[in-house]
Amino acid sequence: MISDATTVDWDRLREEARAAMCRAYAPYSGYPVGVAALVDDGRIVTGCNVENASYGLGLCAECGLVSQLQNSGGGRLTHFTCVDGRGEILVPCGRCRQLLYEFGGPDLLLETPAGILPLSQMLPQAFGPDHLTK
Ligand code: THU
Repeated sequence: MISDATTVDWDRLREEARAAMCRAYAPYSGYPVGVAALVDDGRIVTGCNVENASYGLGLCAECGLVSQLQNSGGGRLTHFTCVDGRGEILVPCGRCRQLLYEFGGPDLLLETPAGILPLSQMLPQAFGPDHLTK
């Protein structure tokens, strides 16, 4: 089991991210990335970056993750990790923090090189869905 009421198996989540990273398509940057997240119903969703000959069209690993989340039943992301091509913990890029905010909100926990941090610290004063209803 990856989590119970109080603990999350970050090692297991990181292994899922590493497995996804091994499936990356990154021939242009040579920089494979893998991500994995826990969903509030216990599911794990993953993603890898998928680049394109038209460089600007490349998809970050987080794009695949949120697509898989939505296309496998939706829900809220609760815990997230990202790894580089060596399997080391990596911070998500700025755009991808915004993607994560949409589906995890400020309390989403991220594994970062500086420890486990809420998304509210990685994306302060975030713009989000609530602004559109004000
Ligand atoms: N990349 C991701 O997939 N996610 C991130 O959060 C950081 C960057 C990818 C995009 C590109 O394919 C490669 O890493 C180099 O920037």
